[in-house]
Amino acid sequence: MKHTELCKLISRSEPIPGIFDFTIESENIAKEAQCGQFLHINCGESTFLRRPISICDAYDGKVRFIFEVKGAGTRELSKKQTGDMIDVMGPLGHGFEIKDNVKNPVVIGGGIGVFPLYKLAKELHGRADVFLGFRSKDRVVMESEFESVSNMVITGTDDGSYGYSGYIASAMEQYLNFHDCTMIYSCGPMPMLKAVKKIAEERGIPCQISLEQRMGCGIGACLVCSCETVNGGADKYAKVCTNGPVFYSEEVTLND
Ligand code: FES
Repeated sequence: MKHTELCKLISRSEPIPGIFDFTIESENIAKEAQCGQFLHINCGESTFLRRPISICDAYDGKVRFIFEVKGAGTRELSKKQTGDMIDVMGPLGHGFEIKDNVKNPVVIGGGIGVFPLYKLAKELHGRADVFLGFRSKDRVVMESEFESVSNMVITGTDDGSYGYSGYIASAMEQYLNFHDCTMIYSCGPMPMLKAVKKIAEERGIPCQISLEQRMGCGIGACLVCSCETVNGGADKYAKVCTNGPVFYSEEVTLND
């Protein structure tokens, strides 16, 4: 069930320039939030539409979300200070499915796509092998937090300035040549998602991916967030806000 609440901002930091780590108070949202779901946030007067921001973690009446400043709305949101109230709708969307029998789960995220995967990694209770990809060393974030809740973490950078050198999907592909895996969970930029989908499908490994999409209403009413599915006819499009943001890779066509 979704709630619309004014929530107090109780902690804020900027772990790397332009990326803000906020925690708000909300008993209702914290209790119901599932990994992979998102919040729809009223950023202030600079924008009419709310902004969808993924839930990074939820526990003990607190909800954490991390976002990048990309425009006027997120810039205004980033200026909120602890003690300020934020108008939040959530939790929204269909999150990741965690099945009890999932063996050797692999979690792979790129850039700001790593944030929605943290609660997932926690809920896999130390079983996940995690791959985190960033542009360069100065953009690496949350590595030690993932290490504290995962079986193993491989971090890579596209420019080779830290960890594995190259695209993180390639690191995962090499790993899969020597390790069993029965589920891949992924969130990140479209080229990475496409590579992960291809690698998973070539190996017959079920793969859940979280899509980022522009949104309007966030609750299935406006169709702004449509994505193309593999189905025809009336089911050709799905709504990322309600059918997703998490889909099985074979359900959706990934377009740039
Ligand atoms: Fe309005 Fe998805 S954002 S239908």
